[in-house]
Amino acid sequence: MVDLSVSLNRLTLRNPILVASGTFGYAREMEAYVDFARLGGVIPKTVTPLPRIGNPPPRTVETASGMLNSIGLDNDGLDTFIEKHLPYLLGLDTAVIVNIAGRSVDDFSTMAARVGEHPGVAALELNISCPNVSGGVDFGTNPELARDVVRAVRNACDLPVIAKLTPNVTSIIPIAAAAADGGADAVSLVNTFQGMAIDWRRRRPILGNVLGGLSGPAIKPLALRCVFQVARNVDIPIIGIGGIQSLDDVMEFLVAGASAVQIGTANFYNPGISGRLVDELEQVLATEGLSNVREIVGSLQTP
Ligand SMILES: Cc1cc2nc3c(=O)[nH]c(=O)nc-3n(C[C@H](O)[C@H](O)[C@H](O)COP(=O)(O)O)c2cc1C
Repeated sequence: MVDLSVSLNRLTLRNPILVASGTFGYAREMEAYVDFARLGGVIPKTVTPLPRIGNPPPRTVETASGMLNSIGLDNDGLDTFIEKHLPYLLGLDTAVIVNIAGRSVDDFSTMAARVGEHPGVAALELNISCPNVSGGVDFGTNPELARDVVRAVRNACDLPVIAKLTPNVTSIIPIAAAAADGGADAVSLVNTFQGMAIDWRRRRPILGNVLGGLSGPAIKPLALRCVFQVARNVDIPIIGIGGIQSLDDVMEFLVAGASAVQIGTANFYNPGISGRLVDELEQVLATEGLSNVREIVGSLQTP
């Protein structure tokens, strides 16, 4: 038997395969495709303090080996999340990591305190990285703000705290270091890369929001680079995200230094993939003669 469990400071998961926020609905939508009990955990769509209608359509467009989205955190707000979605989520036999976003440090800490009142939530993931929302403070691009928001959330509740970072910065290392300094249990790397698509015949951008976030296989090498850089420079567990669609992708992120991974865009075109990857991970570790997934984490050898 291979031990697939991983610990990210105060958060222990039965295995390192999670599903990414915004790509798995509130889990209910995926019930027919995935045995949730197989997964390391689920991360529902980002919740904000109040309902948001999101950005004008079109909000998604396919690109070479990827997609652009500018959903704009369309969600029903925290009250509805707690009333309608959380009871269902907490009934699932898997870790539920609630992903929150706010416009101020106070927003984050108030939401964290409220989520923290519900026994059974495994952790909080702070979305300080959404590229499609204007008007909010850019916590994810400023180390001091990143540290302050993580610290405030840690003080507001007892849940493990994961900071989800944006790659749209000159260097992700100081932001990850600041999150660690603020007391984050782990960092999730990465959210989408800012991009755009143009319909040249109409001389118009395709997305209603003009700019969007690129995800899918196209970003995998970029995301791997972020994981590698943070793993080598910051002492904090990493959850790798970006273009993962096969077991080889999972293994590359683990070897680069991620203790766990999230499957995002692949859920849209292959909804059962997350559960299958858990099975495949178990098999490949056994074939490699390993008894423990942790042995592979950060095992990359560089010249
Ligand atoms: C349609 C769509 C919606 C997303 N919504 C959210 C969100 O609400 N909160 C969040 O933290 N990340 C969101 N993301 C980002 C993903 O969780 C993930 O970080 C990113 O897509 C990179 O992973 P991937 O290449 O596997 O998709 C969204 C991504 C997509 C494609």
